[in-house]
Amino acid sequence: MTRTTIGMLAVAGAAVAAAATLASAPAVQAQSGGAAAVIRERQEGFRQMNAILRRFRDTLQARGEVRPLASQVDEMLAYYRTLHERFPPGSDTGAETWARPEVWSNRPLFEQRAAAMLPELEKLKAAAASGDAAATGRQLQAVGAACTACHDSFRRPRS
Ligand code: HEC
Repeated sequence: MTRTTIGMLAVAGAAVAAAATLASAPAVQAQSGGAAAVIRERQEGFRQMNAILRRFRDTLQARGEVRPLASQVDEMLAYYRTLHERFPPGSDTGAETWARPEVWSNRPLFEQRAAAMLPELEKLKAAAASGDAAATGRQLQAVGAACTACHDSFRRPRS
């Protein structure tokens, strides 16, 4: 391959990477549905995360095989890795939201709570992949605690 071709490929790669960054980091104004769509999408995402955890609980309760659940944790890892992008400035209003203002006013702690999910999810994936139901159950508790740690500071309870 010539130098020029390699250079062109690098430029094309950079453009693709830039496009991907734009797509995954929606500025509220750039979103077709504005803040309302951002809020609804993240709430729907959280419900999906909850559904995956419920699948774990149901499987454990039924004494089912946990190994097939391991790959579902990847979806959770992807969601929590990009969680900060689902709370852009301006998405505190526009649709009913239970996010506290602290999501935006205490951003470092919010991002710390989101980051703290990742090692717990990695451990959940490993436990499920090993087929050890008891270890999976224990780690499910730890994951739940990491969810609650963020909710306690950043989500208003639904009354
Ligand atoms: C870094 C903070 C953070 C973490 C970690 C977090 N959440 Fe949340 N969660 C929120 C916030 C903030 C809201 C409110 C969003 C809104 O209403 O706009 C929320 C909302 C929810 C909702 C309600 C969605 C709806 O129907 O409106 C569910 C369910 C939920 N989270 C589940 C989870 C689960 C399960 C985990 C752990 C696997 C988790 N969350 C981890 C911050 C977090």
